[in-house]
Amino acid sequence: MKKTLEVKTGTDKYKIFIGNNILSSSGLLIKKKLVSQRVFIITNKLIYRLYGKKLENSLKKNKINFSKIIINDGEQYKNIKTVNLITSKLLKYKVDRNDTLIAFGGGVIGDIVGFSASIMLRGINFIQIPTTLLSQVDSAVGGKTGINTKEGKNLIGTFYQPRLVISDVSLLKTLPKREILSGYAEIIKYGLIMDKKFLNWLLANESKLQKFNKKYLIEAVFRSCKNKAIIVRKDEKEKNIRAILNLGHTFGHAIEAVNNYQKSLTHGEAVSIGIMMALDMSSLQGNNLNKNINIIKDHFEKLKMKTKIPNNIKIKTSINKFKEIMNSDKKVKNNHINLILLRNLGEAYLANRYSNRNLESVINKYIN
Ligand code: NAD
Ligand code: GLY
Repeated sequence: MKKTLEVKTGTDKYKIFIGNNILSSSGLLIKKKLVSQRVFIITNKLIYRLYGKKLENSLKKNKINFSKIIINDGEQYKNIKTVNLITSKLLKYKVDRNDTLIAFGGGVIGDIVGFSASIMLRGINFIQIPTTLLSQVDSAVGGKTGINTKEGKNLIGTFYQPRLVISDVSLLKTLPKREILSGYAEIIKYGLIMDKKFLNWLLANESKLQKFNKKYLIEAVFRSCKNKAIIVRKDEKEKNIRAILNLGHTFGHAIEAVNNYQKSLTHGEAVSIGIMMALDMSSLQGNNLNKNINIIKDHFEKLKMKTKIPNNIKIKTSINKFKEIMNSDKKVKNNHINLILLRNLGEAYLANRYSNRNLESVINKYIN
């Protein structure tokens, strides 16, 4: 079973293939997108050990020449040093403008490879083969690329669309449960911000999704990407509406920062707590959400997603410090934090006017 979607922006158009066991036939899909018959697979040791041969066999079958570049695994390597390593290796291999990079991994690899592709020879083609749920439903689609610096996450980056996205849900069977839940936070986000029907479908099929039913997983990835494609088509460069895709993220990034980016909380876990904070803030702002917040909280708790900072994590921060960190987010304009809030389930808006007291009360509830 395979589903296909198209992403269109003002200047680009590409397909997303979503299915079970489609990595083994990926060579054929890739071949159609190549200019030269040379690709560079960029991945990490773990993903290469798990799935590298499957990808390489499919490339060989389709007579595509490939080289691989292995980078370190982890958010801490999403930096300029790794970009240097990738670009130097590509130059050593005498990469040319007709070659293609393949980002084979989760969001970290996708973001670094996309960034490297966008600056290599002023831009060469790249293909995303996302291997985590988060990357399949979010980061591999829409063309945001980026790296971290000591000043913050993803502050250096480009908008640069891939030529093709291949999402094989069978790869998710080796993904740790925590990482699956990180991805699920992004899935539910689409329901909350723009698609009540999808949200209801997710709530109704909680147990099937929990059991990794492939048919339901493909449907969830497909509907997530479809929603993302709608937004990206309207606003590729995040001038306005694309910002709603960041529901819970400004809160979440601040949680990650006050936890010093330690592994005790993943990005997705911080985002799911951030979503709960955004829902609370929406409610305090007078949007009629009280009953609905409990429905979402129950759903998160049933799936064992985080709804608050766990008691064993000791956060040392203050309301002001937390706000200061939120203020260093990319979504800040004219020194003012713009929040993504919900008017109702399935309807998000960008709030640049809200009560500071409400914001402080939400932060206080979650950090203490
Ligand atoms: P990740 O890429 O770090 O992957 C998580 C872990 O899972 C890694 O250790 C990885 O090696 C491992 N892994 C990957 N695939 C696996 C598989 N199939 N089986 C077993 N293990 C596997 O994390 P992520 O959650 O995929 O991505 C997070 C990153 O994505 C962050 O840097 C975030 O900023 C970025 N992001 C970008 C966008 C965007 O639009 N560009 C959107 C959301 C998040
Ligand atoms: N992940 C948010 C975006 O792509 O805009």
